[in-house]
Amino acid sequence: MRKRGIRYKSVCKGITPANLKGFFVGWPKKPSPAALLKILKKSSYVFLAVDAKSKNIIGLISPVSDKTLSAYIPLLEVLPEYRGKGIGKELIRRMLGRLKKYYMIDLLCDPGLRKFYESAGMKPSLGMRVRNYKRQAGC
Ligand SMILES: CC(C)(COP(=O)(O)OP(=O)(O)OC[C@H]1O[C@@H](n2cnc3c(N)ncnc32)[C@H](O)[C@@H]1OP(=O)(O)O)[C@@H](O)C(=O)NCCC(=O)NCCS
Repeated sequence: MRKRGIRYKSVCKGITPANLKGFFVGWPKKPSPAALLKILKKSSYVFLAVDAKSKNIIGLISPVSDKTLSAYIPLLEVLPEYRGKGIGKELIRRMLGRLKKYYMIDLLCDPGLRKFYESAGMKPSLGMRVRNYKRQAGC
């Protein structure tokens, strides 16, 4: 996939569940494409990478924020066949630019992703979490 075949957008307008297939790779219980569309619409901000030819969403990042002091980034994913082409890096770059007015921008990640986020200008920190696996699909 050539880079010029990818477009970026910051609104969900015109997107249907059919454009949102294939996300949550490796999750035992995945939110459906319809649930993902709901998640994106209810997020405080969104950046989407779109395959210009198919119009399908192939990468996404979706922070939630109090719109005053802080933002948290629960989801960043690029579909497997589009990975390693700079799309993830571009999504986090655009999103950190959008969120730069906030004091706190946080996310949790596995240790293997530390360098990826450090290269975007983020710093490691200690995080804590709760996971309700019965609710993993969002319903
Ligand atoms: C993490 C993810 C979004 C990266 O997207 P991507 O489009 O493949 O990343 P890029 O092509 O922009 O890679 C940018 C750099 O990060 C590195 N990188 C990408 N994915 C990585 C990973 N999983 N682990 C370690 N390094 C990674 C690349 O090697 C590249 O390094 P370079 O600039 O030195 O060449 C993608 O692998 C993904 O969707 N993973 C599954 C979901 C996930 O883990 N999301 C993060 C939740 S915290």
